[in-house]
Amino acid sequence: MRTDFLGLKMKNPVLLAAGPWSRDGKSIRKGIEAGAGAVVTETIITDSLTDICPRTAYDGFGLQNIKLYSDIQVEGWQEDMDYAKEAGGIVIASISASTPSELAYLASKMELFGADALEISLSNPMWESLEIVASDPEAIQQMTREVVSNVKIPVIVKLSQNVTNISRVAKAAKEGGASAVSAINTIRCILGVDLEKCEPTLSTYGGYSGAPIRPLGLASVATVAQAVDLPICGIGGIETYEHVLEYILLGASAVQVGTAVMLNGYGKITEIISGLENWGEKRNITQVSQIRGKALKNLKSFDEMKVGPANCVADQKGCMTDCNKCLNVCVYGAIEKKRENVNINKSLCEGCGLCSSVCPQKKLSLMW
Ligand SMILES: Cc1cc2nc3c(=O)[nH]c(=O)nc-3n(C[C@H](O)[C@H](O)[C@H](O)COP(=O)(O)O)c2cc1C
Repeated sequence: MRTDFLGLKMKNPVLLAAGPWSRDGKSIRKGIEAGAGAVVTETIITDSLTDICPRTAYDGFGLQNIKLYSDIQVEGWQEDMDYAKEAGGIVIASISASTPSELAYLASKMELFGADALEISLSNPMWESLEIVASDPEAIQQMTREVVSNVKIPVIVKLSQNVTNISRVAKAAKEGGASAVSAINTIRCILGVDLEKCEPTLSTYGGYSGAPIRPLGLASVATVAQAVDLPICGIGGIETYEHVLEYILLGASAVQVGTAVMLNGYGKITEIISGLENWGEKRNITQVSQIRGKALKNLKSFDEMKVGPANCVADQKGCMTDCNKCLNVCVYGAIEKKRENVNINKSLCEGCGLCSSVCPQKKLSLMW
């Protein structure tokens, strides 16, 4: 499934996100060889910062990281870009800095080294000061403008979900001349607390990523798609081709995958792309543009939503499990179950829909 993102003709819309899995020429090549439509480098900065150990932890759902930026100094990227680009793929350089002039310097360098596009990554959940910059539309506009006026290649602005109004930041990126936005970066988190030692898991704030942030990424992409006319690259919790399609249907032109590769290896990219190709072949969908944003017309504002009354109804064939999930979640006390018979008391049922959502057999549904 092809996509024309940033004027770059990509063989598929699945990009490898910025992170340690794209930290140098060799790892970028692995992403290209796995079939990624493009690879975004780990973020390149001008300073030299030393990483902390440990820097990643997993809670069985998502990942907290306190990984800093690329270990390779900007000049060192010449060699790594050459090596990465020998494989013939599209490479997007991720850059970050605290001043517009420093950011423009990095942008010019990475363009010179052969980057096909740039991604400006200004948010960082470890540092509240950077989160403030990333949520300030004026700062975003100024930073973007400075980069855009110094390079010829397309510029993507990576948005943070840790902001009060993501559409305003996306509009500012557009006014600054960005060719696209990507959303979302990781989310400021504390993974957990050790009850014996009274210590937070990584002893500092970090960025949360992986499956649990997907609903936040989807909402951010849809919000931006409804508010701003700018191509969007959807990021957050993508693990399957179905997740890619969800982002596209809500307005994304391309997507990025990070944590799923960290947890499962580069083969995850190949698996997602092959699922997407099969899905597209069966429906004669060869271009992302054929389906992009198709779910947005069904995304209503709250005020447009249908008002009750509705009732849950149980399948007459009865329940095949004894999980009792429907009974446990019905706070209205409307469900009675005698062996396989599920009875819903219509006068108590408020049609909240939760029983139908948790039923593993899909035996309950909502009737208007
Ligand atoms: C270990 C780790 C390191 C990351 N490093 C960067 C980075 O250097 N620059 C950046 O913009 N985003 C970075 N990210 C954020 C990812 O690019 C991505 O936006 C985020 O993880 C959400 O996508 P995912 O759920 O597919 O991982 C990093 C994420 C992780 C987990």
